[in-house]
Amino acid sequence: MSATTLSIPTTTLADGSPFPLIGFGTSSMKGVEGARAVASAVRAGYRLIDTAAQYGNEAAVGQGVRGSGVDPDETLVTTKIAGGDQGREAAREGLLGSLRRLGLDSAALVLIHWPNPSRGLALETWRTLIDLKEEGLAQHIGVSNFRPEQLQELIDATGVTPEVNQIQLSPALQRPEAVAFHREHGIVTQAWGPLGGREGLAEQFALRKVARKHGAAPSQVSLRWAIDQDIVVIPKSTDPQRQLDNASLDRIVLDDEDRALLATLDLGEETAWDSREHEEW
Ligand SMILES: NC(=O)c1ccc[n+]([C@@H]2O[C@H](COP(=O)([O-])OP(=O)(O)OC[C@H]3O[C@@H](n4cnc5c(N)ncnc54)[C@H](OP(=O)(O)O)[C@@H]3O)[C@@H](O)[C@H]2O)c1
Repeated sequence: MSATTLSIPTTTLADGSPFPLIGFGTSSMKGVEGARAVASAVRAGYRLIDTAAQYGNEAAVGQGVRGSGVDPDETLVTTKIAGGDQGREAAREGLLGSLRRLGLDSAALVLIHWPNPSRGLALETWRTLIDLKEEGLAQHIGVSNFRPEQLQELIDATGVTPEVNQIQLSPALQRPEAVAFHREHGIVTQAWGPLGGREGLAEQFALRKVARKHGAAPSQVSLRWAIDQDIVVIPKSTDPQRQLDNASLDRIVLDDEDRALLATLDLGEETAWDSREHEEW
């Protein structure tokens, strides 16, 4: 069954593969409730599902994908190598554990979750992901929360450019330097926290004004603003109606006046979590 009601636009990865511009975030969705939320999102038409070993919910995500009734081969699951699993053998074991919990033979996209510079293992982990892709355990590989100089280090050492960098990004954290670096190197930018909840974005007057003008929700305007720049968004919602709203952006057409207003919302790079200091395990 493939009861898609949503039509989700795509971008293109460096190898030419189409990739959904709107995916589904799952952090903190666990157990039966988590599986139910994932199944509802897949049934609605989401095809890109974002999880991580660190979220402790891969089994629920796998169950949700299978329980949706949609052919699992139509679904792209992203998972991430946790901080404690960095390194040559540990990263391999980490991915094998993720695949086991997800009930998959390979993951559509595998990312290094955070660079964690204090361990100095990001490069070895990246070399492992390159091998795992060659072995077919990952269809695409990338990173998350890497700054341009951290990306450059991986590229210089291996000659292999991450296909995706998943970073904290919304109209409240526009990250123009990171986005420009990604574009220059053919890296797809993926936005986590795309609704800017941590920054109080939905309450901002400028965003509400644009939303009112288009008869849309503030969340929809934030997401439209990102996908207009070819940035992949992965909003999370447990609510079936909000799941639909977050992926129904076609009729919102932002103009220059809207973009000028939204530009005023950027809090600046220094407000984003800084992966030179912030580490996760
Ligand atoms: N790579 C990383 O380091 C990293 C870090 C953080 C997150 N992520 C990934 O990115 C995903 C998204 O980020 P996030 O979960 O932090 O934040 P988000 O998707 O920006 O926001 C999620 C919150 O917004 C609410 N919400 C969703 N749609 C809404 C709507 N239409 N109107 C009003 N409220 C709405 C949700 O509540 P309801 O559920 O009640 O709708 C939830 O509380 C995560 O789930 C995870 O997969 C990655």
